[in-house]
Amino acid sequence: MSAVSASPAIAPQHFEIRPFSGAVGAEIIGLDLSRPINDQDFARIHRGHLDHHVVVLRDQRISPQQQIDFSRRFGVLQIHVLKQFLLAGHPEILIVSNIVENGQNIGLGDAGKFWHSDLSYKELPSLGSMLHAQELPSEGGDTLFADMHKAWDTLPEALRKAVEGRSAAHSYTARYSETKFEGNWRPTLTPEQLAQVAEVVHPVVRTHPENGRKALFVSEGFTTRIVGLPEDESKHLLDELYAHSVLPQNIYRHQWQPHDLVFWDNRSLIHLAAGCPSHLRRKLYRTTIQGDAPF
Ligand code: SIN
Repeated sequence: MSAVSASPAIAPQHFEIRPFSGAVGAEIIGLDLSRPINDQDFARIHRGHLDHHVVVLRDQRISPQQQIDFSRRFGVLQIHVLKQFLLAGHPEILIVSNIVENGQNIGLGDAGKFWHSDLSYKELPSLGSMLHAQELPSEGGDTLFADMHKAWDTLPEALRKAVEGRSAAHSYTARYSETKFEGNWRPTLTPEQLAQVAEVVHPVVRTHPENGRKALFVSEGFTTRIVGLPEDESKHLLDELYAHSVLPQNIYRHQWQPHDLVFWDNRSLIHLAAGCPSHLRRKLYRTTIQGDAPF
């Protein structure tokens, strides 16, 4: 009988997780995603993500495939409905970019224009997303993250009572017609695409499946109405929730550095792209990990 050789152990990496001083977030220094990551290091990154909700992995010189492989360790990857903005040969990557080449938009230029949690319009919204900087503008282009656990924890009693036990509808097309003619990033959806993004209903307050904390789960980007309320009442309530969600003390503003990979938890946060002057090139690669049905 031939001897079975054990696979070589993966060496640990030496890295630090440094919490930011503000509301949420931490940076991870010294980790190299182009090298293999052993189970203990992976568990630390996972823990850091759960504790800080958004982690900034500095200086990641990785290929699209390495971003996909790392993302897959957290779960199944979701493929975006706008197929024309997927990276050639890597449909797991959505190109987020304002760049026009040969008269064509190379990516989704207005992704994140409104506060949102990625893919909240799906039955299984996203667990988390990773955005890897490819080209950054010399001015602007920040991404803002708001802590929806804090939003819930600090919600005034009257608003808590108004939303507890309620559900809200989410739709990919909620803002589509508003953005359709600004930059040609929103083509008319085919019947097949529309079927993929049919309206869904989720609880207004969800419980995080891993940390057990409650979080508000509505956003101006995709939430259309609170189920069972008259339209004006629903709109008024949602406006109050949106305003409360993005109070300055609950926000981390990410100013991108070259080769940053930012990994956030869509069950804990909503986010917003602050935008940059349109003549400055900005390109990032996004992978989006599928999560559980909110409860
Ligand atoms: C997004 O919402 O996924 C994009 C955010 C950004 O471009 O900063």
